[in-house]
Amino acid sequence: MTDFTDSSYVRDMAKTTENLYRHGWDERNGGNVSLRLTKEEVEAYAGTDKVLRQIPIKFDASELAGKYYLVTGTGRYFKNMVEFPDRDMGLIRISEVGNSVDLMWGFNDGGEPTSEFPAHLMSHIARLKKNPNQRVIMHCHPTNLVAMTFTIPLSSKRFSRTLWKMHPESIVVFPEGIGVIPYMCPGTNDIGEKTAAKMEDYRVVVWPHHGVFAAGDSLDETYGLVETVEKSALIYTTIQAQGGEILQSLTDQDFRDLIKRFDLNVNEDFLTPDAVTATVD
Ligand code: 13P
Ligand code: ZN
Repeated sequence: MTDFTDSSYVRDMAKTTENLYRHGWDERNGGNVSLRLTKEEVEAYAGTDKVLRQIPIKFDASELAGKYYLVTGTGRYFKNMVEFPDRDMGLIRISEVGNSVDLMWGFNDGGEPTSEFPAHLMSHIARLKKNPNQRVIMHCHPTNLVAMTFTIPLSSKRFSRTLWKMHPESIVVFPEGIGVIPYMCPGTNDIGEKTAAKMEDYRVVVWPHHGVFAAGDSLDETYGLVETVEKSALIYTTIQAQGGEILQSLTDQDFRDLIKRFDLNVNEDFLTPDAVTATVD
């Protein structure tokens, strides 16, 4: 039986966090990722059958009792995950009592799950209700998207339409748009609750002046989602660097053509422009 350390889950997680680091979205210990695994997937590997220790968490996650998550550790650097996977990540099982998790593998120097774990678990709950295939929550600090939160009104519609206009792939990859919450203190249950509420409608939630929370079925798909959002944010930023004057762009008719061609389940509210100037919707 292969040891869990050598599993495809640990390898894919390390590869993903390394990519996030290489993209420049996860400086120092910035960012965190959680991947839900099934009992059968975990049991197919050796070294996951004993509770190593119990770790208290600041959120009652009993709704997820028995579920397994491979999660990055608090304070750990994404660039190191490939070399030290069983130190910088952990496999945990949510316990029946809710406010604690059972450590089954990893965190071998006494580490603990990310400080954003309550926000991850609340987001997992929200996404699971939408689609039982959703397994991944990813938080990172994509530079251009974060920069836009200083210059564009904090409105989900304004952000979604601006990004859709930057590249035809955008509306194809995130037809529901992206959600924006107000600035809030990270590492708190409050920001987790606000994020999870937006996750009922969107797979991407922007944390102004900080980063993004994204959800998906797989690590690759979630990474690709953030990559597409950030690519459009980079185009927007580059336009500003070129002077900011837009002479031509994707039109609302172009959106309608994309919706028809790719049979998109689009957010209709975002198809027409409005005069949003308020800070948060
Ligand atoms: P952690 O090191 O606790 O995962 O925190 C990183 C981060 O990006 C907080 O928002
Ligand atoms: Zn962060």
